Amino acid sequence: TELSKIRNFSIIAHIDHGKSTLADRLIQRTGGLSDREMSAQVLDNMEIEKERGITIKAQTVRLEWKGHVLNLMDTPGHVDFAYEVSRSLAACEGALLVVDAAQGVEAQTLANVYQSIEHDHEIIPVINKIDLPAAEPERVKAEIEDLIGLDTSHAVLASAKAGIGIEEILDTVVERIPAPKGDADAPLKAMLVDSWYDPYLGVVILVRVIDGTLKKGQQIKFMNAGTTHLVDRVGCFRPKIEQLTDLGPGEIGFITAQIKEVAQTAVGDTITDAKRPAAEAVPGFKEVQPVVFCGLFPVDANDFEKLRESISKLRLNDASFSFEMETSAALGFGFRCGFLGLLHLEIIQERLTREYDLDLITTAPSVVYEIELTHPDPAGVTKIDLHNPADMPDPNKIASISEPWIEATIYVPDEYLGSILKLCQDRRGIQKNLTYVSGRAQATYELPLNEVVFDFYDRLKSLSKGYASFDYEQIGYREGDLVKMSILVNEEPVDALSMIVHRGTAEVRGRGMVERLKELIPRHMFKIPIQAAIGGKVIARETISAMRKDVTAKCYGGDATRKRKLLEKQKKGKAKMREYGSVSIPQEAFIAALRMG
Ligand code: GTP
Repeated sequence: TELSKIRNFSIIAHIDHGKSTLADRLIQRTGGLSDREMSAQVLDNMEIEKERGITIKAQTVRLEWKGHVLNLMDTPGHVDFAYEVSRSLAACEGALLVVDAAQGVEAQTLANVYQSIEHDHEIIPVINKIDLPAAEPERVKAEIEDLIGLDTSHAVLASAKAGIGIEEILDTVVERIPAPKGDADAPLKAMLVDSWYDPYLGVVILVRVIDGTLKKGQQIKFMNAGTTHLVDRVGCFRPKIEQLTDLGPGEIGFITAQIKEVAQTAVGDTITDAKRPAAEAVPGFKEVQPVVFCGLFPVDANDFEKLRESISKLRLNDASFSFEMETSAALGFGFRCGFLGLLHLEIIQERLTREYDLDLITTAPSVVYEIELTHPDPAGVTKIDLHNPADMPDPNKIASISEPWIEATIYVPDEYLGSILKLCQDRRGIQKNLTYVSGRAQATYELPLNEVVFDFYDRLKSLSKGYASFDYEQIGYREGDLVKMSILVNEEPVDALSMIVHRGTAEVRGRGMVERLKELIPRHMFKIPIQAAIGGKVIARETISAMRKDVTAKCYGGDATRKRKLLEKQKKGKAKMREYGSVSIPQEAFIAALRMG
């Protein structure tokens, strides 16, 4: 396709503002699919994405509109996947900013808009859901001008649901979004935007060609990975797969090259011709690193091999999560896994539970700490990255511990501001900024990531009745007064529950933890002490009293069916319990105990 006829754009929208519905409408209007095929939302193609209503993997479709080729790039909508978003945006020249006419601008949207502006995008505001009685398009337009500083004179008022404004959006894209630039005669230079595993095609790579041409049968090289591959398919999605002979400058499409694992195809890598390589790679390549780690153990030790297989399969399609085998004194064999964030962790955990039918115990999520030792260890190392609180060195050998910090931007209606500020304060937050715009406050805080990974987002949402929104970026490591808190049940340490905490908040955390465990662990025939301790010092303690004989007698006396039912229930419950010495701890206790009050 001629460069002047191409338009590449993405859709920026807060969750639920109507991105998928709009994308479907654009596909439908330009004739990509019949009405019947439209019944299911096509861009979100994974089951979990549909159920949770979020887009995880970027996808793209090619649309034809009045003699132009429009490439619509779908982008993930969650903070955990920020790097993927940045690469998708880098592949485009413009964006539609979809804002719900009744809800207005949200924090998450802002982060993406700023990125889009940094990429010099032409941004077209689309005020969606104007069919709603609560729609206030003029107020939302003013908000876009005030908050983001975008000119809204060419904003489109639309309803993706009712099909209003769809043609106007397509016309505005052609009119306002600049055509891509590129040199057809230069050596091939293309950016790897995304990749995923397809059971029929193998690894599918989404690319944006910058210069030169990408052809079927071409020997290509990944400049960062240093590997070479033979291109065996070139094509695009309309949204159905269409094979092409080549992709020229400015074009977006896919290739396959007999690659088996997505781990070999790093997002942001540069694809060039193996024989005639480009002089420079596309800027902005970054290796994504997991930031949150936890242990995953099968409830039933016999499921270990099944867990290994399932995790390996998931990893085929998601290079951003990592795993390695781990053994725990109490939990047996399992895996230490790394994730981009808590949502990412939950998605993987949910898929293992649901798609692979596994019962899992998840240990306390932890960030990566940097530890300076006072003296080199036997291998001559003085600095270690700690992924697992269980591996914490002897405190006497530690010179300092540093933890990752983030800068968080929170938007919240005034009425909930007080409780949100308190939440940030309780989590060791440092306020950097606080401003008010049209009834809403914008607070900027620096927070230790450690204080955020547990349940910060849940608390934020519940304290603000769902109105607060939150976005963050990492700002590096800072030294802190950090200690390992152990939990002892019946005098035995439960390593899955140990965590690194700040000394100043240790007592509150320890107290909350033992109190919750007291509720979660059933009574036994004997008294069970539950303790939180730092080093040898107990900082909080609760005791589960012994089951009294007459209580048991009452339970088991009389009615035979009731007794049998009780026994069955107990037996079933047993399967989901873990034995700690002589104490059984139910599976739910592990996660529930970590939720801070
Ligand atoms: P994520 O995929 O989670 O990012 O959400 P999304 O932004 O793609 O939102 P989606 O298209 O799934 O729409 C969210 C909800 O809003 C759905 O229930 C849609 O039916 C509804 N919706 C989308 N557009 C409109 C509209 O123009 N008017 C009305 N009334 N509802 C709409």
